[in-house]
Amino acid sequence: MSGFEFGRNPEDVKGEVARGALTLVVLPDLRKRGGLGLDLEARLEEAEGLALAIGLNVVDSFALPIRAVRPATLFGEGQVDKIAVACEQSGADLVVVDGALSAIQQRNLETRLGRKVIDRTGLILEIFGERAATAEGRLQVELAHLDYQAGRLVRSWTHLERQRGGFGFLGGPGETQIEADRRLIRDRMARIRRELEHVRRTRGLHRERRAKAPWPVIALVGYTNAGKSTLFNRLTGASVMAQDLLFATLDPTMRAIRLPAVDKAILSDTVGFISDLPTQLVAAFRATLEEVTAADVIVHVRDIANPATDDQKREVEAILTDLGVIGEEGSHVPIIEAWNKIDLLPSNERDLRDARVSDRPFAAISAATGEGVETLVERLGILLTGEAQTLDLTVPMTEGQKLAWLHAHGEVLSEHAVQDMQGSPASRIRVRLTPRELGRFYSL
Ligand code: GTP
Repeated sequence: MSGFEFGRNPEDVKGEVARGALTLVVLPDLRKRGGLGLDLEARLEEAEGLALAIGLNVVDSFALPIRAVRPATLFGEGQVDKIAVACEQSGADLVVVDGALSAIQQRNLETRLGRKVIDRTGLILEIFGERAATAEGRLQVELAHLDYQAGRLVRSWTHLERQRGGFGFLGGPGETQIEADRRLIRDRMARIRRELEHVRRTRGLHRERRAKAPWPVIALVGYTNAGKSTLFNRLTGASVMAQDLLFATLDPTMRAIRLPAVDKAILSDTVGFISDLPTQLVAAFRATLEEVTAADVIVHVRDIANPATDDQKREVEAILTDLGVIGEEGSHVPIIEAWNKIDLLPSNERDLRDARVSDRPFAAISAATGEGVETLVERLGILLTGEAQTLDLTVPMTEGQKLAWLHAHGEVLSEHAVQDMQGSPASRIRVRLTPRELGRFYSL
């Protein structure tokens, strides 16, 4: 426990979490992360995106490998010096560490750097706080914030005790103050939990009322920045916030839309997924997603041009499984994927996009240009009404079982030989299938 530096003077620390603050983003690379297999560059990009989401002005960013965690500062001596130099050179006033910092690490880094330092949880809390739109979203965010603060208070208490000389003497003025703060936080958390209960009950009523409405509900889910808001706007013609910002939508937004097949439907937009969500924030995030369990169809919007698209899909499906939407025998709510941003793919890949392996029905679209959106709407209508549809599928010749299944269960209208993306022989089949058969085909 040696090496902690105490007693910083707050005046020595400049910078604050405010729009336009010149910000340095540092990614501690711990090399033992499970979950998303995002490479360093993608993780750094996401970290920058988070900072941009609350209007911070990112002037520099880099990753630093952590071979052994230093309890006092997380980073090694030389690395802290490197961060200090980068701050000087870029003029950054604020340092975002895209990882978890203990209260002591945070304080020591602030002292060493003479600048404000926040960690990933702190940053996401700022974003949630700014974006929470509904009562429940706001309460959940406040709860998460208080929880975060309470954790830090306990640590500062230890720190104060040590600072007083470690006589084991309890009951000094500092301790009384902290005890009082802790009680305040506990009381506030209890009150919020009660309010949350109330909000949940009322929301249940809303949902019941909506269940009585004759319109089906379509929920858009997807990774942050996949393009949900853009697609939502295209489908509704409304202008919800669509920015190149993460979390433009923390709480579900609902609009009625017209679909050719079912007249009217309710379209619901949800908050974006994010990799490595700090555990304290999972409840707040899930609360905003519960709506999808009551949907008739889920549209999973994917940024198909993102190299991490498959990892992102796994993460989204893991949460849907958690929420009980996807069970052992498949999905309780039909899921269709919108493979978005095809305008960013090279044209040779766009032509053969059906050849990509998929275990779910999908439509390749560009929410930005509108390409393919009609097909998506058509398939949505079919999923909602249960009518058969004609599909063009490219199936690799190696997938003989799938080809045989199509011939056995579908109405094959035409078939000819083509090459798939890797140049291997494939079969291009035009076939009529009902949504149920289509679902079975994709789960083969
Ligand atoms: P969150 O609200 O953070 O969860 O994001 P979102 O999934 O709602 O994404 P949003 O619609 O805000 O889009 C994110 C960025 O991607 C914006 O800059 C959009 O302009 C862009 N975008 C969305 N769809 C497309 C597309 O089809 N093609 C291209 N090139 N860009 C797109």
